Amino acid sequence: MKDYKIALIKGDGIGPEVINEAQKVLEALSINQDFSFQFEEYLMGGCAYDKYQNPLPEETINGCLKADAVLFGAIGGNKWDNLPRELRPESGLLKLRKNLEVFANIRPAIVFDELIDASTLKSEVIRGVDLVVVRELIGGIYFGEPKGREGNKAYNTMVYTIDEISRIAKVGFELARSRRKKLCSVDKANVLDVSTLWREVVSEIAKEYPDVELTHQYVDNASMQLILNPKQFDVILTSNLFGDILSDEASMLTGSIGLLPSASVGEKAALYEPIHGSAPDIAGLGIANPIAAILSASMMLKNTLKETTSANKIQKAISKVLKDGYRTKDIASFGAKEICSTSKMGSLIAEYVKKEQ
Ligand code: IPM
Ligand code: MG
Repeated sequence: MKDYKIALIKGDGIGPEVINEAQKVLEALSINQDFSFQFEEYLMGGCAYDKYQNPLPEETINGCLKADAVLFGAIGGNKWDNLPRELRPESGLLKLRKNLEVFANIRPAIVFDELIDASTLKSEVIRGVDLVVVRELIGGIYFGEPKGREGNKAYNTMVYTIDEISRIAKVGFELARSRRKKLCSVDKANVLDVSTLWREVVSEIAKEYPDVELTHQYVDNASMQLILNPKQFDVILTSNLFGDILSDEASMLTGSIGLLPSASVGEKAALYEPIHGSAPDIAGLGIANPIAAILSASMMLKNTLKETTSANKIQKAISKVLKDGYRTKDIASFGAKEICSTSKMGSLIAEYVKKEQ
């Protein structure tokens, strides 16, 4: 019997609501299987600040390092917006990524046929879109030195080493190799020295992957191409800041940010989280969409725990629930037969998962 140790970081806002549903589905999944889950909860973000005046307690870092995988909800909210930067919830998350050394952030944008009308784009543009943004997560301008404020100026530094670019490029190429074998590297090499190095290193690594077609795009063009013709993309490889922006854009192709999971991985840890934020405006109302969190659990099963059959069961259950017309409020205008709460949506998916056994 395998006993997987999962660190749960529910976080702030709707984080606890959606992670509870992911936990419910994982528990349903482990019935009559040769594996079980042991969940440990840890604090991060605003809730950790409220309790310890620290958005990332040491105990959370250690707990995550000891776990087989981390499942995380969301952090942040207006309540903590006026704190000094190092005490804000976001600093907790950035510090956790750095401590876990999860340098590769993988953000798929998949269009569900059942929800094709939820997108603001024409259905012929987005039907069949299946792309992944691979974002470098612990370098670049988010962490570069020097940074600071002096008198009437403020500055940050976008810096990458050859090693940092090589290791994320390899993740991108490996992923492309397992998919449609196309990799588009996105930079701003017409302006930035750091991007010129990025492009050189990616082109060098490409020699190890002759079966993968490599293209380059400038980030301004890429953001336009994503709207114009998203089907041209398979894997998009990019740096921390560009990836932050492009992955939000890519997620909107699908119409609801409530549907998309993500993984942040490295050599020593793996962190799974929905792409959406903590949505403080709807926290506690029981209307948040738990599907992104549940799909994050599915991604965890597939990528880290190698329980592919179980991961697929979750995906099938979600497709079936959507096909049967169950919708949370955010996607209620698109083919809803019944509008359901966060916990009802989780329970339905858990029920369908059990039926898949
Ligand atoms: C994300 C978020 C974070 C980021 C914030 C909350 C620090 O926008 O995960 O995309 O910028 O990386
Ligand atoms: Mg972001």
